[in-house]
Amino acid sequence: MAIDQLPLQPGQPAQLTTLNLTFRPMTLSDLSSVMVIERQSFSTPWSENTFRRSIDRKRTYSHCIVAVFEEIVIAYAHFVLISGDVHITNLAVAKTHRRLGVGKHLLKELLLQAREMKGELCFLEVRVSNIAAYSLYRQFGFQVHSIREKYYTDNGEDAYLLWIPNLSVLKLP
Ligand SMILES: CC(C)(COP(=O)(O)OP(=O)(O)OC[C@H]1O[C@@H](n2cnc3c(N)ncnc32)[C@H](O)[C@@H]1OP(=O)(O)O)[C@@H](O)C(=O)NCCC(=O)NCCS
Repeated sequence: MAIDQLPLQPGQPAQLTTLNLTFRPMTLSDLSSVMVIERQSFSTPWSENTFRRSIDRKRTYSHCIVAVFEEIVIAYAHFVLISGDVHITNLAVAKTHRRLGVGKHLLKELLLQAREMKGELCFLEVRVSNIAAYSLYRQFGFQVHSIREKYYTDNGEDAYLLWIPNLSVLKLP
């Protein structure tokens, strides 16, 4: 179900829609919320220090976006932009808010921001078993470029290297 199609029931918290889902750069004060989502989402989560480094202002190529609903961080995404190449390195939605369209809106926001910053080629790695993420990326036109064998160190799983060759001509859903 899309986030703007959620039925409203009496006593339910405010409905999650595209209008009340907002995006902003991650700050240090978001760290604890982001770590909760990170730990529930990945078998080898990023450390707090990795997030600290990723939001360090000196790293002008590193961008971390949070999605906020009712003043709560419910998702985030990180990308690196170097010489027009956009590498999506992290993207996760809180378990409690999955399958509501948040991932789709967050990815769209990321791609819009990357395009605004003159990003062209965009790529990422995803576990071959991660059907949810793979389906999300395919909806946006990501294609399989190649397979990175035994890319994940925890279980030796392969990664699909997905890419979009040129963001500037991409039609976003
Ligand atoms: C992948 C993830 C970000 C998707 O976020 P989400 O907010 O639940 O996704 P959305 O509700 O926006 O769904 C968008 C599309 O993703 C796909 N999708 C999402 N969850 C899915 C699932 N459980 N099974 C199959 N497809 C799924 C569908 O194609 C969906 O489109 P549809 O609603 O038209 O069918 C979320 O499952 C997550 O945080 N997973 C753990 C972290 C992770 O794997 N990150 C990606 C690392 S590469």
